[in-house]
Amino acid sequence: MADSPKYPELGRVVPSAYPSEATRAMLRRRRSTPADLLTGPGPDAPQLQDILTIAARVPDHRRVVPFRFIIFEGDARARFGAVLKEAYLANEPGADEARADCEGNRFLRAPVVVAVISKTNPDHRTPEWEQVLTAGAVCQNMLLAASAYGFAAQWLTEWYAYDDKALAALGLEPGEKVAGYVYIGTAQEGPKERGRPEMSAIISRWGDKK
Ligand SMILES: Cc1cc2nc3c(=O)[nH]c(=O)nc-3n(C[C@H](O)[C@H](O)[C@H](O)COP(=O)(O)O)c2cc1C
Repeated sequence: MADSPKYPELGRVVPSAYPSEATRAMLRRRRSTPADLLTGPGPDAPQLQDILTIAARVPDHRRVVPFRFIIFEGDARARFGAVLKEAYLANEPGADEARADCEGNRFLRAPVVVAVISKTNPDHRTPEWEQVLTAGAVCQNMLLAASAYGFAAQWLTEWYAYDDKALAALGLEPGEKVAGYVYIGTAQEGPKERGRPEMSAIISRWGDKK
């Protein structure tokens, strides 16, 4: 069971920082676990509720809340898989059955999959670009929250974030997009470190001569 989550009441003064070597160590080594390496268990209901509540606690200019969540658990994953298989076969009519089955089994790779939906309001005073960035931050917060609960996770889009049939089955409204499908479970094996940016290539100080 999850710890009883403590969220501050509206207007309450909260700490401005949380100095923590444990958090720094986690952030330095953070890695996604490929969905193919995930298995159960996943978060229970209170843990998932807390993971989503943490994920929703992102910088959000003018509190637009330009995102929402769709949870896939239990047999909903296989039922959505049937949609994926059909969509895949519609796109690739010559595909063999084994490959189509593989597409239909995508959501079975993890016990919990959360679709993070970006829902921007282009008429809002907050630029749409900023609203999109907020949905990205939600996905990243979700990865971190899942990790803090001891779960492995991966943020994917794959083809079905862009497929009209899959999107219709998700029930997206006009203007909504899939920011990511966040797969959450337990790692069967640890992921290996991957290349990271060469920091000197991406940091400059304004005013320095080239
Ligand atoms: C918006 C977005 C979509 C992604 N979609 C995919 C995907 O479809 N397939 C994939 O292999 N990785 C995808 N990734 C990359 C993985 O989430 C992850 O970053 C990658 O496996 C590297 O792991 P790391 O998080 O440890 O750097 C995506 C990342 C982002 C930000």
